[in-house]
Amino acid sequence: MIEVESLYFKYPLSNDYVLKDINLKIGLGEVVGIMGGNGSGKTTLIKHFNGLLKPTKGTVKIFGKDTREESVAYFSKKVGLVFQNPGHQIFSDTVWNEIAFALKNFGFEEEIINKRVKWALEFFNLTQYKDTSPLLLSGGEKKRLCLASVLAWNPDFIILDEPTVGQDFLQKEKLIEIIKMLITQNKTVIVVSHDVEFIWLLQPRLILISNGVIVKDGDCKSVFKDNAILEKCGLTKPQLVELYEELYPLIEQMPVDIVEAHSMLLKLLRGSK
Ligand SMILES: Nc1ncnc2c1ncn2[C@@H]1O[C@H](COP(=O)(O)OP(=O)(O)OP(=O)(O)O)[C@@H](O)[C@H]1O
Ligand SMILES: [Mg+2]
Repeated sequence: MIEVESLYFKYPLSNDYVLKDINLKIGLGEVVGIMGGNGSGKTTLIKHFNGLLKPTKGTVKIFGKDTREESVAYFSKKVGLVFQNPGHQIFSDTVWNEIAFALKNFGFEEEIINKRVKWALEFFNLTQYKDTSPLLLSGGEKKRLCLASVLAWNPDFIILDEPTVGQDFLQKEKLIEIIKMLITQNKTVIVVSHDVEFIWLLQPRLILISNGVIVKDGDCKSVFKDNAILEKCGLTKPQLVELYEELYPLIEQMPVDIVEAHSMLLKLLRGSK
C-alpha cells in the first residue's frame, strides 16, 4: 500500500511548490494511470513512491513505513521504478550485468541471480545482447532493458514512466499483456503516460494532474467523459471514446478495444443492439 497525505514538494533553490496537497491511497492489485501536461508534476510525484524524493511537507508511507525513515534501497525492493529516460537508469558495461546489478545489491544468491537474469533476457527478447554494452541498444531496446531489470527483482509495485515512448506496436501490445499478467499476480502497476490510446486499453483507475494538483481520480471511463477536466489537462480523447460519442445512443457503452467496437458495430448494422 502506498499512502500519500497532504504532500507538498518543492525542489531545492525553487520558490514554487511542484506538488500541492496531494492525497492518495494505492493498494495491491490496482492498475493506475497518471496523466497530465508537460511539467505538471507526474515524474516528481512517482519519485516519492519509492523514497527517491522526500516530501517538503506531508507524508508518504510505503507499506506503513514513512519514506523519511528508511533508505531508497529499502523501498526500491518493494517499489520498482522504471525511469522516463533510460539514460538515468542504465550504467553497467553489459546487458547481463545491468539486470544482475540490483539483484546482487539486494543480496540474492548467485544461482537465483542467474535464473532471474536469464528469464528477464528471454522474456524481453534481449538474450542476443547479453554481452553487449547497453549503450549500443536502440532507444526502444533500452527501455525494455530497464523494465527487465526492475521485473527481475519482483517488486510488489511497478511504476512505469512513459513506457510506450519509442516502442513499436508489437512492443506496446506486449506491454499491455505484461501489465495484465502482473495484475493477476496481485502486483500494482502505475503507468505515467501521454499515450491516451495505450491508457484506454489498460482501463486503469486514472489520476489527472494539472499544475501539481490532482484534479481528477476515478475510473478511466468516467474521467474521459469529463470534458472540462480533459481540456484543463490538455488531453484528447481515445478514438474509441470519440466513436462512442458519435454513435451514442445507438451504442450505449464505450468499447474498451477494437474487438468490442467491431461486435457493437456489427450488431448495429444488423439492426439490433
Ligand atoms: N531537479 C529539478 N530541479 C528543479 N525543478 C525541477 C526538477 N525536476 C523537475 N523540475 C520542475 O518541476 C516541474 C514538474 O516536473 P516533472 O518532471 O515532475 O513533470 P512531468 O509532469 O513529469 O512532465 P513531462 O510530461 O514533461 O515528463 C517542472 O516545472 C520542472 O521544470
Ligand atoms: Mg515526466
